[in-house]
Amino acid sequence: MTAFIASMLARRMLVALICMLCAFALETVIAQEPATKPAPRGDPAAGKRKTAGCNGCHAVAGMKNVPSLGGQGASYFVAAMRAYRDGMRNHTTMRDVAGQFSERELVDLAAYYADTNAAAEGTAPSAAPASSTQCAACHGAEGAQGATLDVPKLAGQKAAYLELALRAYRSGARKQPIMQQQAAAVSDEQIAELAAYYASRTGLTVK
Ligand code: HEC
Ligand code: HEC
Repeated sequence: MTAFIASMLARRMLVALICMLCAFALETVIAQEPATKPAPRGDPAAGKRKTAGCNGCHAVAGMKNVPSLGGQGASYFVAAMRAYRDGMRNHTTMRDVAGQFSERELVDLAAYYADTNAAAEGTAPSAAPASSTQCAACHGAEGAQGATLDVPKLAGQKAAYLELALRAYRSGARKQPIMQQQAAAVSDEQIAELAAYYASRTGLTVK
């Protein structure tokens, strides 16, 4: 009889032990499940505090080759900074600038610029050139909204910068397979009309 009770107790303890182990294993699995979590949203206020060194170039309307950042999409912003840092885009100043920040800081900067509301109106209305038809699928009809998060806004961007960017893709100086292909057959005249058109649309603001 005592042997029977002892064996019952032993069996119960074994079951309890197995349950504890299972619960522990499950908790470990849940704790290690980051894959489906969305990318962290940056802190715009923290980002703003890091922009003092950017404003001397980016917040100046007259600096034609310096792109406007106000309203640019956050994912594209981070991708652009990584591209400078990692050498996919050649620009000595921006390489040094981008290299100073942690990934967290890049996300904060991106949140600050993305939150900057477009205030400026587009300038003289101009009709969409035929050469922009192929661009609309990704950049939107007026370049104001990328079809996916990695597609930058073009509307309101400075014309000189847009020209530079398109030439850089066409020559291969700026390496990004989709845009290298898009720019390959675009003529100088088309680059000029595309740049003028997108610059005239309402969208990005000097920041
Ligand atoms: C000395 C001037 C200068 C300073 C300072 C500077 N930038 Fe730039 N930035 C540029 C220029 C010029 C370009 C365009 C380079 C090119 O043609 O690729 C650029 C490009 C960029 C781009 C790419 C935008 C796009 O549409 O692809 C981002 C993002 C950017 N800068 C963010 C910053 C941030 C954030 C800071 C401050 C932490 C900063 N820059 C400081 C001159 C500057
Ligand atoms: C299949 C999608 C797609 C099409 C079509 C497309 N683009 Fe793009 N474009 C992109 C992506 C993605 C990027 C970001 C590339 C990078 O990170 O350098 C980009 C970047 C750009 C940039 C750089 C903007 C900046 O802030 O530096 C310009 C300018 C541009 N595209 C103009 C055009 C024009 C003009 C056309 C039509 C002739 C066009 N694109 C067609 C996807 C597209």
